Amino acid sequence: MKYTSKQIIDTFLNFFKANGHTQIKNSSIVPENDPTLLFINAGMAPIKKCFTGEEEPVSKRMCNIQTCIRTNDIESVGDRHHLTSFNMLGSWSIGDYFKEGAIKYAFTLLTEGFKIPKEKLYATVFCGDEELGLPADEESIGYWESVGIDPSHIIKLPFEDNFWRMGDGEGPCGPCTEVFYDTGDEHGESYEKSGVFDTKKRYLEIWNAGVFMEYYQNLDKTYSKLKFKSVDTGSGLERLLLTLNGLESVYDTEIFVDIMNYLRENSAKPNERSLRIICEHIRTSVVILNAKVDPSNVKAGYILRRLMRRALRHLRTIDANDDMFIIIAGKTIDNMNNTGLNPDWNFTKEELLDKFKIEQDKFSKMLSQGLKVFNEYILDKSNIVDGYLKEELVFKLYDTFGFPFEITQELAEEANIKVNEAKFNELLEHHKEESRGANLAVFKSGLADHDPNTIKLHTATHLLHATLRKILGNDVHQMGSNITPERLRFDFNFPRKLTDEELREIENMVNDVISQSINVVREEMSPEQAKASGALGLFDNKYGDKVSVYTIGDFSKEICSGPHVANTSELGQFKIKKEESSSAGVRRIKAILV
Ligand code: GLY
Repeated sequence: MKYTSKQIIDTFLNFFKANGHTQIKNSSIVPENDPTLLFINAGMAPIKKCFTGEEEPVSKRMCNIQTCIRTNDIESVGDRHHLTSFNMLGSWSIGDYFKEGAIKYAFTLLTEGFKIPKEKLYATVFCGDEELGLPADEESIGYWESVGIDPSHIIKLPFEDNFWRMGDGEGPCGPCTEVFYDTGDEHGESYEKSGVFDTKKRYLEIWNAGVFMEYYQNLDKTYSKLKFKSVDTGSGLERLLLTLNGLESVYDTEIFVDIMNYLRENSAKPNERSLRIICEHIRTSVVILNAKVDPSNVKAGYILRRLMRRALRHLRTIDANDDMFIIIAGKTIDNMNNTGLNPDWNFTKEELLDKFKIEQDKFSKMLSQGLKVFNEYILDKSNIVDGYLKEELVFKLYDTFGFPFEITQELAEEANIKVNEAKFNELLEHHKEESRGANLAVFKSGLADHDPNTIKLHTATHLLHATLRKILGNDVHQMGSNITPERLRFDFNFPRKLTDEELREIENMVNDVISQSINVVREEMSPEQAKASGALGLFDNKYGDKVSVYTIGDFSKEICSGPHVANTSELGQFKIKKEESSSAGVRRIKAILV
């Protein structure tokens, strides 16, 4: 039987609904109230607080289909199945059934619902990690065997493969068991013969059939037990569509096939990888634009710009007409509507296409500007050494004019000049190191953005720092800080947990200073003067000739790059939300302003 997207979605959701799961809505791909994520990257992301008990789920059993964006695999796009956006079918048990139930449901749905012969299925389980104190998941092996999976089809894999977490940050996590589909001998040697479980070509993951959420990953990469155990599953619809229909790649499915064919027929030099990248990136761009993100140079907008410009660049590679960007975007929107895989539209088709057009125009402007500069460079013969355009100029085109390296390379080729890619990459690496340095500076002041709330919390952090020293002693100093618009987080050295009384005293002292409406004063001076004035700082030769010192009455004086509020009265009420261990000898306070 051939499956459409709609049939797969219905089979999945109806199965779970028949087994007592409530279908929940598909959230916007831009997370609400979660500064740790740029985009929703898994079905569980919008409900992650249900796993810790911080939020009450609508039901203990839930399921849905959730659009997800994952751009960490962007370089893999163009292979059989990696995508930057996909639809995740998910099911959850929040403190209800656990491993046995999840494995039974997975096996029944795959073999009865999707009629996959069990011989085609392989399951991976977590082999444990002694160093992290995490045991092997022997129970899951037992449950897979008891439903009828041959023991030779059960593979134990390490932490990197079979311990699922949302990323490096904090959050619920646990060992997982994934189901792979055997796409057959034409895609490589079998696992039984070669001993190698090749998950790139022959065996395709079709379902993370159970993340067994029983741990919480702390920021210092230690694991605490959650209050109750839950199950989180996730299956990429696009991969199911490819495997259940026995197709070669996701580009042969109904999601892409017609658009790919159109593009192939309407380009002078079609190459498969470029065609795939164009169609894939345009599809993700539609999804992100519709979520009210516009292309820009920061955060989510930057990811969108990168996707759009990468598609535009590959359109040049295949020598397609300039209008093709908009035509493919239009076809993508139509196809989303036809397959039923459209988001809830926030814009009309015309409005979305206008947004594509605006970015395309910006890109062309950048290109023509860069082209002019490039032509000037090559007119001056001293810029060409041994047949190569000087690498500083290649880098300048990239860094100052936003010219992708590949385009300079193409132009150089046409002008019979060479460019040295290795030297360009060296400069690029050097530049990245410098910006890493700049990021470290951001880390030092702990300020990741200039949102007004972040600035207020930053000033509150200075008050907290000074207060801790007054109450706990002058040995206390800052060990780290991280501030978002929602909260401040401050790490400091102290050997034990703070008492409730101490926490109340700290809160009161900070609030007392706030209520005195004290001006926050910035002065510039040399690091030596700053040190002599008693300002807190790191004094380890990292400062330049001049530093800014922020003074709040006679209460606080710190070297800091700012920015800060002008007067403490702007802060509102300071409230400590949590005091906990961060690592050995280091405590962490999380606080908010209300
Ligand atoms: N949350 C399960 C997965 O993304 O695989």
